[in-house]
Amino acid sequence: MSLIQLDEPRVRERRRPTRSGRTYAIRTFGCQMNVHDSEGIAGLLEADGMKRIAEPENADLVVLNTCCIRENADQKLYGTLGMLKKAKDQRPGMLIAVGGCLAQKDEDIIQERAPWVDVVFGTHNFDRVVSLLDYAEEWGPVMEILEESTEVAVVPVKRDVAHSAWVTIMIGCNNACTFCIVPAVRGGEISRRPGDIVREVESLSADGVVEVTLLGQNVNSYGRDLELNGHKTLFAELLRQVGAVEGIERIRYTSPHPKDFREDVAVAMAETPAVCEQLHLPLQSGSDRILAAMHRGYNAERFLAKVELARRLIPNLALSTDIIVGFPGETEEDFQHTLDVVEQARFDSAFTFIYSPRPGTAAAELVDDFIDKDVVHDRYQRLGELQHSIGLETNRALIGQTVELLIDGPSKKDPERKSGRTRTNKLVHLKTEQPAGSFADARLVEATPYFLLGEPA
Ligand code: 5AD
Ligand code: SF4
Repeated sequence: MSLIQLDEPRVRERRRPTRSGRTYAIRTFGCQMNVHDSEGIAGLLEADGMKRIAEPENADLVVLNTCCIRENADQKLYGTLGMLKKAKDQRPGMLIAVGGCLAQKDEDIIQERAPWVDVVFGTHNFDRVVSLLDYAEEWGPVMEILEESTEVAVVPVKRDVAHSAWVTIMIGCNNACTFCIVPAVRGGEISRRPGDIVREVESLSADGVVEVTLLGQNVNSYGRDLELNGHKTLFAELLRQVGAVEGIERIRYTSPHPKDFREDVAVAMAETPAVCEQLHLPLQSGSDRILAAMHRGYNAERFLAKVELARRLIPNLALSTDIIVGFPGETEEDFQHTLDVVEQARFDSAFTFIYSPRPGTAAAELVDDFIDKDVVHDRYQRLGELQHSIGLETNRALIGQTVELLIDGPSKKDPERKSGRTRTNKLVHLKTEQPAGSFADARLVEATPYFLLGEPA
């Protein structure tokens, strides 16, 4: 079975629903950008008449929105495709579509390893999913990968949560961190026009949304590529404009790059009441030598200076980070520097990753410097333990305080409780009658490193 590369022009025609009564299931791997792209894919499928169901095995169409940022994401995809082959053998009319970052990067590998896939599409053309399904149903398996986007695709979105929404402000990344595959798959930075973003937030607010998260791979670069009437609206100004939209009570964003995080953004955060006291600032490593090898553009001292700046300007700021352990050539001394920075920065939470070589990135070439697996696991464990104790201390310090929660829904841990988030993005479980999407005041009574328990206040 061979896949065909389409070269017809991209048309986004409006049309009548053609798949009414048919069902789809969608599984998303990876980051928030992918989760949001999946909401767009779901919106397009629903506009075509389809209804979502939970179990992929019973669906007429299964869409897998893939990620390639770390190795285990590949393994999960091929595992899922194996499971779907069995379902498709029993129900031959079933369609399988694979999109997202891994599809973008591994188009030929997917074709080779899983010839039962009907549609392969990339990150730059997820908005074409319905046309590609039409093509596949008529002509057989199809693959369409575009190298670059020319604009940020805007499609009807099907949100899972009524009160909270993602808003893409830019796509792509112009940095070249040596471990990271994102620039290769997501392309260069393209910002959306500020007026379009504000209008989208206004219409979300009119729809009942009270919380928005602004999304971009590198939000501090927002607006640099866009000049309108001789004026560039940069990220700090965008925060203020979104902050002026009535009805939006909470604004979050992800992710900034530490090298580009400047005072203007911290001041805009502090001065815009809706912007939450929360910052995700990815450290990656605390060793100057490794940071240089990663091409991060800052050293430990400058990173800590940014943390100090943010904490000074934004009272009660909660700080989270990403850290990679076992980058090629990382010595025990380098790792100690990472532990030192973690001690000093006192992150509220940290996402920690074991380095995984991504073919095509500069760091993946450094095979002679790859670190022994056991050594990396031991470091990963030690970093986890340190952050665990810091997370516990920072959360315990909150006990007794009264905080405002936005209720998300029933707690997954305890059916008697509901879960909500503080403005600082802490997860709190409490007993309350308040429905999802409403605000409730809670007094914090118990803490773990990862969540707190509250009582209605
Ligand atoms: N190996 C391990 N972690 C990685 N990340 C990105 N690329 C890799 C890689 N090759 C992590 C970084 C980034 C987060 C989204 O994923 O910490 O901030
Ligand atoms: Fe990857 Fe670095 Fe761009 Fe983030 S800033 S997406 S880590 S290249």
